[in-house]
Amino acid sequence: MHDILPADQPYWKKINKAVESISNYYGFSRIDTPIVEQAEVFVKGTGQATDIVEKEMYTFRTKGGELVCLRPEFTAGVVRSYIEHGMHNLPQPVKLWTTGPLFRHERPQAGRYRQFHQFNFEVLGDRSASIDGQVIQMCYDVLKELGFKGACIEVNSIGDSECRPYFKKILASYFKSRKSSLCGDCQRRLKENPLRILDCKDEKCLQVKSGAPQIIDHLCEPCHTHFKQVLEFLDELQLPYTLNPYLVRGFDYYTKTVFEIIDKTDETTSKSSLVGGGRYDGLVKLLGGRDTPAFGAAGGMDRILSILRTKELKPDKKNEAPKIFLAQLGQMAKRKSLKLFEEFREAKIPVAESFSKDSLRAQLKAADKMGIKWVLIFGQKEALEDFITLRDMESGQQSEIKLDKVVTEMGNKINKK
Ligand code: HAM
Repeated sequence: MHDILPADQPYWKKINKAVESISNYYGFSRIDTPIVEQAEVFVKGTGQATDIVEKEMYTFRTKGGELVCLRPEFTAGVVRSYIEHGMHNLPQPVKLWTTGPLFRHERPQAGRYRQFHQFNFEVLGDRSASIDGQVIQMCYDVLKELGFKGACIEVNSIGDSECRPYFKKILASYFKSRKSSLCGDCQRRLKENPLRILDCKDEKCLQVKSGAPQIIDHLCEPCHTHFKQVLEFLDELQLPYTLNPYLVRGFDYYTKTVFEIIDKTDETTSKSSLVGGGRYDGLVKLLGGRDTPAFGAAGGMDRILSILRTKELKPDKKNEAPKIFLAQLGQMAKRKSLKLFEEFREAKIPVAESFSKDSLRAQLKAADKMGIKWVLIFGQKEALEDFITLRDMESGQQSEIKLDKVVTEMGNKINKK
């Protein structure tokens, strides 16, 4: 678990802003689901034999005896809300976006936190491949907007309940004959879900995996056609993608398309994915709703932030940083400055101050450090005679403004610039 420090906040704001504007543009509505939910929602939703449920969920019993958990992801909670609030009665598809904290008890390592944040897009009630293309595009756009140059999409299809069981059998028999070369976890996975072995990052398993059969060769006709269409959309959108036949993702709810976005130039997060998602046509029904196809994706905001910081992809501060500094001297000026400061706030003009510093020199120094253009000097004489001294920090020139005109005049100066 980690802090998002004041120095990180401009990056944080920039990420949030990019996500919100892209969500609005594509007609997504904001949803916020609770951080604590019935554990069952995620156990059923993401799958009993997934790493998330087996090892990573923060689950606990309330005093009333209910088994609840800190949400490890958004999707199952959003689907629960879609069902609970009868959103199938709305015009379909229902397009939802959200951001917020999630919790997974993972082994701490670069880019992996136990409390982390995602932006998340979900589209419920549409089975067409164009939705897959659109959500992938939106995720790519968020990264592009933030200045990422090396983002690359990896995409695969993992079939559906028609073709996947057969492929699992083929895969199981491939791995069975190589069982002794697999890690302990994967020997167990072989029984529960051999597909999960394809997701293992263990060196030994990676080697065995490299010769494994590929699901792409075993898709049923509808899954094959859907995947072909998705790739055509990605081509049309001119998105940089590669086929990764072993991409399966760590949730049981996925059907057909799965994808991840990696930053190839990143050195900080061990090339882990920045975004992951896919189609989950069976999840709404599994959680008690109607048969509803869906597609969604989520991006790791903490990973994105750490890359922005190391790559010095600095947020644009120009428009928000104050251009005015209010310096005050003496008790009476101090009192009146507080009021003036509030008047500036009401007029929505950002003004910096350093009320805790008493000497003018220290205050001017602080203003200079902030790169401020105008300093309003409010001393004893000014306070008594109701005027203020304006100092242009670039030219060093000073002039006087009547106190009741200060906010308007400074507003004009800023807007002229
Ligand atoms: P996920 O791949 O588990 O997918 O997470 C998506 C992104 O969240 C990852 O690509 C990564 O950037 C970030 N992330 C995951 N775990 C951590 C962690 N421990 N620390 C920091 N960042 C992390 C999902 O969560 C799915 N619910 C995505 C989805 C939405 N599928 C359909 N709809």
